[in-house]
Amino acid sequence: MERTRRLRQTAAMRDMVRENHVRIDELIYPVFVIEGENICNPVESMPGIYQYSIDRLQEELNRIREAGIKAILIFGIPAHKDEVGSGAYDDQGIVPRAIRFIKEKMPQLIVIADVCLCEYTSHGHCGLIRGQEILNDETLPLLAKASVCYAAAGADIIAPSDMMDGRVEAIRRALDEKGYLNTPIMSYSAKFASSYYGPFRDAAHSAPGFGDRKTYQMDPANGREAMREIAQDIAEGADMIIAKPALAYMDIIKDASQNYNIPIVAYNVSGEYAMVKAAAKEGWIDEKKIVMENMVGLKRAGAKMIITYHALDVAKWITEEN
Ligand code: PBG
Ligand code: ZN
Repeated sequence: MERTRRLRQTAAMRDMVRENHVRIDELIYPVFVIEGENICNPVESMPGIYQYSIDRLQEELNRIREAGIKAILIFGIPAHKDEVGSGAYDDQGIVPRAIRFIKEKMPQLIVIADVCLCEYTSHGHCGLIRGQEILNDETLPLLAKASVCYAAAGADIIAPSDMMDGRVEAIRRALDEKGYLNTPIMSYSAKFASSYYGPFRDAAHSAPGFGDRKTYQMDPANGREAMREIAQDIAEGADMIIAKPALAYMDIIKDASQNYNIPIVAYNVSGEYAMVKAAAKEGWIDEKKIVMENMVGLKRAGAKMIITYHALDVAKWITEEN
């Protein structure tokens, strides 16, 4: 008789046959930087996550170093917003200044710059608008400009999250023209119009002022279409692709990893984090066990890297186990 239990008899046996592992090297930790001085604002819906002003950012870098995290994803919250999101592509803007600070203090840390307009536009949409319409082609040069601006500041990787068509090509061309041939693009390819982004929009002050993002982000019902998005971004020059959210979309991660041979990144988003933190606080779940189960689930689905707000904790837990 086949007895699969034979390989589960002891912890050592289970460790030996384990198929998937969560590694610190593959974790990416999101960081929110806010314009202003002496700010370390807790994000209420995301316990443990803070918005830091640049003069307080060192505290966050210390936490990152202590945990052994090697890559961060940076988001900026500007002091002023306008119709065209100028703060996103101003080289004195919050993100370029934060990148320069980080690269000076911790040059070996991989800094991934999220590129989008929604944190910088008065209307909160990811592109330029005309009336109620979110403009595609008119937005591309601005995304390209922001990307060059972040690369020039020292960003190691550019991560466009806007979901405009053709943006990877526009960004790649602009980076190449300015001599940033070696700056990789990690594209949010399969990004769904999800309610799981709620807490992030509090953290990044980026909720749309009217309507929703359904004309540019994907319909949660569509898995096959996600493969088209990914194919498009790879054809345009993406070096890595992100699927987002993660947990309700593991089939997307699985399909992507089976169909495409570039690194697949799972974004374990703010709402997923908030739910775990809330239930853990109530004592209804064991936070560490639930988080590690989610992480290994993403690895099993085929994620190479994981972007997660739990990254500092996960790194500490992994270190403690060894
Ligand atoms: C901005 C952006 C969002 C997230 C990452 N980049 C929000 C959105 O599209 O509304 C979501 C991240 C999260 O929820 O953790 N385009
Ligand atoms: Zn956006």
